[in-house]
Amino acid sequence: MEKKITVLPGDGIGPEVVAAAVRVLQVIAKRYKHDFQLGYAAIGGAAIDQFHDPLPEETIKMCKESDAILLGAVGGPKWDNNPAELRPEIGLLRIRKTFDLYANLRPVKAFPSLLDASPLKREVAEHVDLMIVRELTGGIYFGEKNRTQSEASDLNVYTREEIERIVDNAFALAKVRKGKLCSVDKANVLETSRLWRQIVEEKKVQYPEVTVEHNLVDSVAMKLITNPGHYDVVVTDNMFGDILSDEASVITGSLGVLPSASIRSDNFGLYEPVHGSAPEIAGAGIANPAATILSVAMMLRYSFNLQDEAAEIERAVSSVFDDGYFTADLVKDKARALTTDEWTDKVIAEI
Ligand code: NAI
Ligand code: MG
Repeated sequence: MEKKITVLPGDGIGPEVVAAAVRVLQVIAKRYKHDFQLGYAAIGGAAIDQFHDPLPEETIKMCKESDAILLGAVGGPKWDNNPAELRPEIGLLRIRKTFDLYANLRPVKAFPSLLDASPLKREVAEHVDLMIVRELTGGIYFGEKNRTQSEASDLNVYTREEIERIVDNAFALAKVRKGKLCSVDKANVLETSRLWRQIVEEKKVQYPEVTVEHNLVDSVAMKLITNPGHYDVVVTDNMFGDILSDEASVITGSLGVLPSASIRSDNFGLYEPVHGSAPEIAGAGIANPAATILSVAMMLRYSFNLQDEAAEIERAVSSVFDDGYFTADLVKDKARALTTDEWTDKVIAEI
């Protein structure tokens, strides 16, 4: 298979974890005889420094000509006092909007060897394998805003089309996972939620192999902590998804191992670790590359439909943890920690 991938290393540890993930990608390419052509471009603070623009035209152009995007992270203290339009995170918001990446996928899967770091009891966290599907380009974050000294408002708007497409993504995912979909809303008070719920009900006849439940967001907030193992695919709107995906991300205990994808209907997608640019450890060669390596696995699975290759990366990562190899963020005894490159070598050796 021949694919073009735009690589956006970004800031802080971004370039380090991306370099590690690209090494794994190249090993997969060789092993399974694929041709992945990589092009590098600037985003975030690095792009502000070089082009005075957090998402330069050249970067957009390269992304448009490719099949998927791999991103590190953006931001850092250097740009914290910049004016609003010259802030690194604007690059991220703009790239999602430019490419209409409306479906944000955040899988949370427990690695048994990492569960000591979970704030939950081992028996509660150990069977977690869920996926939050968050609508990313609509709803209250993008609605009309107004503010005076005495009043403020944010409008929450969802069109049928916007709901249908995200719900379709979620059903399709549930179908190839454990066949369970939980749609999260606040239908007891919000009209947008009532339309959302109605559309999920309409859609479910097309997916007879998927069981559907509707849950109110406040109830899901509790159940994610008391019984996270209950969930398979969880689909929800932009704001609820923002909150629930962050809540779910702490279940397994380690920010450094959580990948994400933001995709659209034609399977074009942006893949990035959930964590940020960790400026305090940037350049030290000790960042955990697992989240970015697992983001590459998601790219292979969701943009390229390379299921075996994706599963192989996930198996390798899991196996390296099981063998007791960790980067510094995951071990108490820092003398035992592997560097970014050493840990990546273990994953590569496993493939
Ligand atoms: P952060 O995720 O960068 O770091 C939080 C904590 O986790 C820090 O202690 C950091 O050292 C550690 N950490 C994160 N990823 C790690 C990894 N791969 N290996 C080892 N340790 C890791 O979040 P924080 O500190 O709130 O933000 C730092 C910068 O990143 C800010 O400029 C923020 O705006 C930006 N950021 C960017 C995001 C993105 O590009 N998607 C997301 C979140 C924050
Ligand atoms: Mg958030």
